[in-house]
Amino acid sequence: MCGIVGYTGTKDAFPILIKGLQRLEYRGYDSAGVALANDGLQLYKCKGKVVDLQNHIGNGTTHGNSGIGHTRWATHGEPNDVNAHPHFSMGGNIILIHNGIIENYDSVKKELVARGYIFKSDTDTEVLVNLIEEIQKSENCKLSEAVRKALNEVHGAYAIVVMSEDEPGVIVAARKSSPLVIGIGEDGDFFLASDATPIVEYTKNVVYLEDGEIAEIVPGQELKLFTEKKQKVTPYIQELELHLEELEKGGYDHFMLKEIYEQPRSVHDSMRGRLSVKRGLVHLGGMGDYEKKMLAADRIIFIACGTSWHAGLVGEYLIEDLARIPVEVEYASEFRYRNPIITERDVVIAISQSGETADTLAALELATRKGATILGICNVVGSSIARITDGGSYTHAGPEIGVASTKAFTSQVTVLSLLALMLGQAKGTIERSRFHRTLVDLSVIPEKIEAALQTDAIVKKIAAEFKDARNFLYLGRGYCFPLALEGALKLKEISYIHAEGYPAAEMKHGPIALIDEEMPVVVIATKGPSYEKVVSNIQEVKARKGVVIAVVSEGDEQVKEIADYTIEIPETEEMFAPLVASVPLQLLSYHIAVMRECNVDQPRNLAKSVTVE
Ligand code: G6P
Repeated sequence: MCGIVGYTGTKDAFPILIKGLQRLEYRGYDSAGVALANDGLQLYKCKGKVVDLQNHIGNGTTHGNSGIGHTRWATHGEPNDVNAHPHFSMGGNIILIHNGIIENYDSVKKELVARGYIFKSDTDTEVLVNLIEEIQKSENCKLSEAVRKALNEVHGAYAIVVMSEDEPGVIVAARKSSPLVIGIGEDGDFFLASDATPIVEYTKNVVYLEDGEIAEIVPGQELKLFTEKKQKVTPYIQELELHLEELEKGGYDHFMLKEIYEQPRSVHDSMRGRLSVKRGLVHLGGMGDYEKKMLAADRIIFIACGTSWHAGLVGEYLIEDLARIPVEVEYASEFRYRNPIITERDVVIAISQSGETADTLAALELATRKGATILGICNVVGSSIARITDGGSYTHAGPEIGVASTKAFTSQVTVLSLLALMLGQAKGTIERSRFHRTLVDLSVIPEKIEAALQTDAIVKKIAAEFKDARNFLYLGRGYCFPLALEGALKLKEISYIHAEGYPAAEMKHGPIALIDEEMPVVVIATKGPSYEKVVSNIQEVKARKGVVIAVVSEGDEQVKEIADYTIEIPETEEMFAPLVASVPLQLLSYHIAVMRECNVDQPRNLAKSVTVE
């Protein structure tokens, strides 16, 4: 979603802003713009990518030691040059960038129109910048005060960064529900961004703005923070754990491929210090404190969106199987609007790679109001969900830049496996020998993922055969049903081929009608309790001339005889099959997307971090 960057200090702002925008490209966007303060405010913006913006600027003046930049993911108004950010106020002396939605923009706009304001764009953002101008004119106050007063008059979600021609070098920033990070440089300069990726190469010292906080940033001075009610706040400076090389492609053609290949390490990192086979121990620090609550809970409710929701489904199977605690998995966007029954005896766990998904955050707020304990499983350290929850665990997958989630999914499933084992052990619902066996099985998953990566060549061949298919069906049972959903989602996201995931047996209740020789059916048929049943489902597909691509356990002979293509992966305990079998499914969607010349890392219309509801 929209990306924000800002800089003020003694350096040349333009290259910092452009590089920052490039770092934020992974979030998904459709237009870009920058404004530079240099003896007035210079604005460049256009529809398209950052490279289009650079072409648009050409040899234009780009001097200035402070500036702001934006990548826009359209909400109000189509993606075009005029709607792109930054937006000037009508008087032309204030300029603003915004991530989020001003919900009461219509009524505010009407009032401003009545006072003579003329609007150029269709955006809610232009309403806010004009409101700031109107307040500043009528009250003759500083920019920061005008911003504060304006924010008291609007509702919605926002991260904004504002500059004024009348206060050169000063940047005012504020947030409510949309993330904003301020980097504090060594030379008295400041960097702003929607996440830390554009900041890390300049400084590791950052302040995450909290909801309702406003920052007045003056180069060479201490960072000033205050609330919308004008109370002073002492900035809490944190050290970033992010490393620059994690944000580079490291020789791979795409971030997605790099992230698929990183999984042996990322899954290992998710377990590091949390699992000891020798001592027969599983411990998740930030969750451990809530172990008793979870054991006594009426229900554990996972809330999530997209891929994280699929991980939640695996989590449901794991926890109900190993710890015998009832689990529900909810789409955050549905949960919050359907008047759900939640009590203080429920534990609500948000699963989120970014930790910023607006619906997930809002669902957590609802659960808090109802008295539930709220926990988080997030990847991005310091993210909003990580900060508002009572406790939780990081997945430690490292930054995920490709929009299609890969390593974040396997790390989420790893943490959920650890959680299920921890709870099962504490509750005594897993007998000792099974617990030990399972621990050993989980500890060797990174090596099995490494082996599964060896399927790349065969998967690529299969991709070449099916790159022009119009539809795909993905089938799985038990623990592999959520994986069928995830496999189908990966293909849809990056190759724009329609794909559906289904529980293998449910196929008979609808999708079987779609099967003919044109329909590739990916079946996850690894060894496990439902193996024979899946084999029968494959027979059903074959009997209707469907083409079967089966992911099987190494050495499988039975499926090999009936499937058209097989992809062998190491055998594993059924509950960990999603961790290993996800690799060929990720590779299949990756290769198909590359062959179809799709933008793998930034698929159309999608955003990495969905910060609007
Ligand atoms: C977007 C991303 C998905 C992700 C989903 C939930 O749609 O493109 O990859 O699964 O949001 O995001 P979260 O950060 O909460 O896991």
